[in-house]
Amino acid sequence: MRIAITGGRGQLGRALARVLHPEHSLVLLDLPECDITRRDEIDNIASFLPDVVIHAAAMTDVDGCARNPLEAYRVNALGTQNIALACQRANAAMLYISTNEVFDGTKDSPYLEFDPPHAINPYGASKLAGEHIVQMLLDHAYIVRTAWLYSHGGNNFPRKIIQSARARGTLAVVEDELGNPTFAPDLARALAELVETSHYGIYHLVGEGVASRYEWAARVLQLAGMGNVPITRVRLADYKRASTPPRNGALANFVAATTLGIRLRPWQEALEEYFNQPIAE
Ligand SMILES: NC(=O)c1ccc[n+]([C@@H]2O[C@H](COP(=O)([O-])OP(=O)(O)OC[C@H]3O[C@@H](n4cnc5c(N)ncnc54)[C@H](OP(=O)(O)O)[C@@H]3O)[C@@H](O)[C@H]2O)c1
Repeated sequence: MRIAITGGRGQLGRALARVLHPEHSLVLLDLPECDITRRDEIDNIASFLPDVVIHAAAMTDVDGCARNPLEAYRVNALGTQNIALACQRANAAMLYISTNEVFDGTKDSPYLEFDPPHAINPYGASKLAGEHIVQMLLDHAYIVRTAWLYSHGGNNFPRKIIQSARARGTLAVVEDELGNPTFAPDLARALAELVETSHYGIYHLVGEGVASRYEWAARVLQLAGMGNVPITRVRLADYKRASTPPRNGALANFVAATTLGIRLRPWQEALEEYFNQPIAE
């Protein structure tokens, strides 16, 4: 297949490039050469004649989105509209990467694909607007919601935890925000399977199992050999930041596992690989 990947230099884009090459012919797109908010990218991307466009580019700075919601909509919603129009023009399928933050976090168990989304912050709202645009414009689309992505070289939670622990010798981490740590190479492998199916629809694909930020941070420090660094538990309500994350942002991998047999391994196993085999990314 010919596959175009937006956000090709991001955490997920790089993992996808490793997993999909050389079996597929790839076009990697990212800033500064390709800006998804520009209308002329519609023709540019269509001219590659992709069979599938995996749209991973986004404004992923959640607090930045909270400070500048219009910019979040410009990149995450209107940029997605351009990619969807390029897919329409090229008669390509689209795989849109969305987020657990389309949910409000009030549910008491992990969110299923059938739960009604209700975003409570500008990042989630702008990504949800992207979902609606994809559904409105395209028949052949996969919408994949994921969460808490990390991989080597990315600006992610494990990296920030290790950096803060080194700098301060102590940490304060939220204990009541839940999610699913997801190793980008694991997600990339699942996406590679999904795009072969033409089984379009909405999917949740995250590392199996649920963790709190505190549990994730504690495991990161243990695996980094810094298990002696003290961590203070903080309540989400007391942790001041620009964005308001959903308290329960955990997703259930229901549809892909049930209909296609696509599964990700438990998040704890993937995190061990992140520390043990960095080059396996
Ligand atoms: N990271 C997470 O925890 C997480 C959780 C749930 C869902 N997701 C979704 O998963 C996808 C991949 O995330 P990621 O962690 O790989 O993000 P990432 O590392 O931030 O990569 C996103 C890429 O998109 C690029 N980009 C931003 N604005 C662009 C524009 N206008 N035109 C073209 N490219 C642009 C970024 O370039 P610059 O770096 O130069 O800005 C970056 O290379 C995103 O759609 C995100 O919303 C992420």
